[in-house]
Amino acid sequence: MADAAKRLSSALQRVPIWLVYVIGFIPAVMNFTLGVLDQLGADPMRTLERALGEWSLRFLIIGLCVTPLRQLAGVSLLRYRRAFGLLAFWYVTLHLLTYMVLDQGLDWGAIWADIVKRPYITIGMASFVLLVPLALTSNNLSIRRLGALAWNRLHKLVYLAAAGGALHYVMLVKAWPLEPLVYAAIVATLLAYRLVRAVAKPARVRRPAPDGTVMPSPRSRLAR
Ligand code: HEM
Repeated sequence: MADAAKRLSSALQRVPIWLVYVIGFIPAVMNFTLGVLDQLGADPMRTLERALGEWSLRFLIIGLCVTPLRQLAGVSLLRYRRAFGLLAFWYVTLHLLTYMVLDQGLDWGAIWADIVKRPYITIGMASFVLLVPLALTSNNLSIRRLGALAWNRLHKLVYLAAAGGALHYVMLVKAWPLEPLVYAAIVATLLAYRLVRAVAKPARVRRPAPDGTVMPSPRSRLAR
C-alpha cells in the first residue's frame, strides 16, 4: 500500500505543472467555444455562468484534498496545489465576469443591488474577495516576504472561501437538488477533517524550502 502510494506519487511528480493548467482550462475553453457556436442550450449565458462557478468549486475542493490525500494515503500532489488554487481563482473570476458583463450588462447599480439584496450573491462575492489575496500571494516571492507562518495563516482563508462557495451554491437553488448538497457535504468533510486534526494536535509550520515552497511539517495538523 505504502509502496503503491510512493510509486503513484513519483509518477505524478513527473507531470509538469503547466500541463495541470492546460488540462484545467479545457472546460473553460470548451464552454466558451460552445457558447460562440451557440451550442450551450436555451439559456447559453446561464449555462456558461453555472459551468464556470461549478469548476471553480471543483478546483477549490481538489486543492483541499491535497493534504488529506498526503496524510491518509501517502500520495503527494503538493507540487500542484498552487495550480489548483489558481485555477479555482481564474474560474471564479470568469464566473464573476460572466455575471457582470453578460448577465448584468455592466449595470453597476443592478450589480450592487444584487450584492446587497440577494444573500447568495453576497456570500459569493465575499468568497471571491477572500480568494483575491490568496491569488495575489500564490508565488514564491510572497512566501519569502510574508514568512512561512504568516503566509500559511493567510492561506487558511481558503477554508472560508470554499465554505462560502458551497453555501452560495446551496442558497441559489430553489428546491433541494442533490448536487449542491453533495458539494457542501464534501467541503464540510474536508474542513471537519482539518478541525479534528487541529484539535488532536496543534499546527507546526516549517520554514520555506529553498524554492520558496512551504512544506508543511509532517506533524502539522492544520496544513492546508
Ligand atoms: C468562490 C466564489 C464562488 C463560487 C465557488 C461560485 C460557485 C457557483 C456555483 C457552483 C454555481 C451553480 C452552478 C450550477 O448551477 O451548476 C454558481 C451560480 C451562480 N453564481 Fe457563483 N460562485 C462564486 C462567486 C460568485 C460571485 C462573486 C457571483 C456574482 C457576484 C456569483 C454569481 C452567481 C450567479 C448569478 C449564479 C447563477 C444563478 C442562477 O443559476 O440563476 N457567484 N456559482
